[in-house]
Amino acid sequence: MNPDRLTPTIGVFDSGFGGLTVLRALIERLPGAQFAFIGDTARLPYGSKSRRTIARYAAQSARFLVEEQSADFLVIACNTASALALDAIQEAVPQPVLGVIEPGAEAARAASRTGDVLVIATDATVHSHAYAAACGARGLRAIEKACPLLVPLVEEGWTNHPVTAEVIRIYLDELNAEAARRGLNPDTLVLGCTHYPLLRPLIEAAVPAGMKVIDSAEAAAEAAVREFGEKIGCPVLSTPSVERVGDNAPDPVVRCFATDSVEKFERLGSRFLGRPVGAVELVDLGG
Ligand code: DGL
Repeated sequence: MNPDRLTPTIGVFDSGFGGLTVLRALIERLPGAQFAFIGDTARLPYGSKSRRTIARYAAQSARFLVEEQSADFLVIACNTASALALDAIQEAVPQPVLGVIEPGAEAARAASRTGDVLVIATDATVHSHAYAAACGARGLRAIEKACPLLVPLVEEGWTNHPVTAEVIRIYLDELNAEAARRGLNPDTLVLGCTHYPLLRPLIEAAVPAGMKVIDSAEAAAEAAVREFGEKIGCPVLSTPSVERVGDNAPDPVVRCFATDSVEKFERLGSRFLGRPVGAVELVDLGG
């Protein structure tokens, strides 16, 4: 931790609003930390890009958080960057870095009784097969499906829109048909993109009764508390509670940055974070 500062800073990044689901879960658990969040909105979506490009973008965000915001720990609040660029990020900065894939797979292992799980994610995450590998390492069989229309729908703020509900229904029908073709009996669905928890009510309405829905954002926040909690030296809430954060703990310091459309980020970001995001600062990370 920077010795000049008493409060540690957790740096969090994503391509857009999705990472706010992780930030929200972190604030609920670590109200004494300060947070710096960057959404690389100018270059979103990451999910349709190559490993090389994702790694370059993600390393730039990581350096910004460490070098310009003095982050002590980084949480990659993006499954796509976690799947394709974890090594590149770890090489770019000396601070500890936590991704969302392993915590998501671990939560699936804890939830699944049949050992068969479904994963929805971006194109790039699915093609990396990072979830299949992480689930396989835990004795689970995973079927992954790319759902490329969902990120733009979230970024548009259509989180409770009939078009979004229909798109989700179609994707999940296709995924369930594939599971049936392969003779699997899935009981757990992993939201393998941090944008998808913002669609959770629509997704829960579309899954078969009894299917558990795993939020990789929540799972990552739990893992961050386990990994960084002690080192952070500030209060950790084992039972996350927005009320407890508001009533008993100091207001967390949260600084938000975006690489584009600051006004839109302020408007939609507050809704997704569940608290005002404050004045979002525009940054240029380069090309
Ligand atoms: N939210 C990001 C993820 O978890 C990616 C969205 C995108 O830029 O495609 O994968």
